[in-house]
Amino acid sequence: MKYVHGYDQKENIRLQDQATTLSELLHHDTVYPAHDRILEPGCGVGAQTISLARNSPDSQFISIDISARSIAEARNKIEAEGLKNVIFQQGDIFKLPFKPESFDHIFVCFVFEHLVHPDDALITLKSLLKVGGTMTVIEGDHGSTYFYPDNEAAHKAIKCQVHLQKMVGGNANIGRELYPLLNKTGFTSINVSPRMVYVDSSKPHLVEGFTKNTFIAMIEGVREPAIRSGLIDGAIFDEGIKALYRTTESDGVFCYTFFKAVAIKP
Ligand SMILES: C[S@@+](CC[C@H](N)C(=O)[O-])C[C@H]1O[C@@H](n2cnc3c(N)ncnc32)[C@H](O)[C@@H]1O
Repeated sequence: MKYVHGYDQKENIRLQDQATTLSELLHHDTVYPAHDRILEPGCGVGAQTISLARNSPDSQFISIDISARSIAEARNKIEAEGLKNVIFQQGDIFKLPFKPESFDHIFVCFVFEHLVHPDDALITLKSLLKVGGTMTVIEGDHGSTYFYPDNEAAHKAIKCQVHLQKMVGGNANIGRELYPLLNKTGFTSINVSPRMVYVDSSKPHLVEGFTKNTFIAMIEGVREPAIRSGLIDGAIFDEGIKALYRTTESDGVFCYTFFKAVAIKP
């Protein structure tokens, strides 16, 4: 699998900024019962793991990722936080060494957008879930991005990220598809809630932590591959990035919507 965001240190900081800023919005309603076993596939560098482990201190998390480097970093981070309820393991979602129905819950965040067959991943993960267990999925959707002042070049730069992700088999607009995906893979009681991030200059922590360090940083990160692939002219891309920064000024506004789905294995 080619992971479009890459694994470098800048990307790790971006994922951490994203998780810290969005923790309340995305995690406030995820609290697991004491002693339940929860699988977190694609934990990356542990950005969500910290919130999960903190919010459910008496539950046991098994967090896995295909990248050994990310797992090592995640382990260090959790140890530094003094959290003791997470076991990290390297592994591929499609070949996990667990018995069927060995987890009470599964939590997956920002992973399916990178997979060629997220439906197959859901079916595989469902087999590891106990009957009556919950599947929680969080994804973004770049099509939900709008801002003031509006700017065509900015939309074009964002579309480059969407195209590049599509070229490696992913889907940056997957948030809107969570309901159909969970439905067709046999989950029930599916509840999808949009989590909108609304940013204006009265919320300086979101201007820095979300608009600049999470969203714009992600789009800036695809400049070279976007130009190399002939998706956009360098000058237009740069104009788009400038326009995105313009939305972080005192009269600017930036909006993005994440989608959180919780469903049950019948
Ligand atoms: C965008 S990161 C998200 C990390 C974390 N869940 C978060 O929200 O910060 C996606 C992660 O999925 C992992 N991943 C992708 N395909 C995988 C697979 N088949 N099995 C396990 N992990 C996978 C990548 O290595 C990467 O760490």
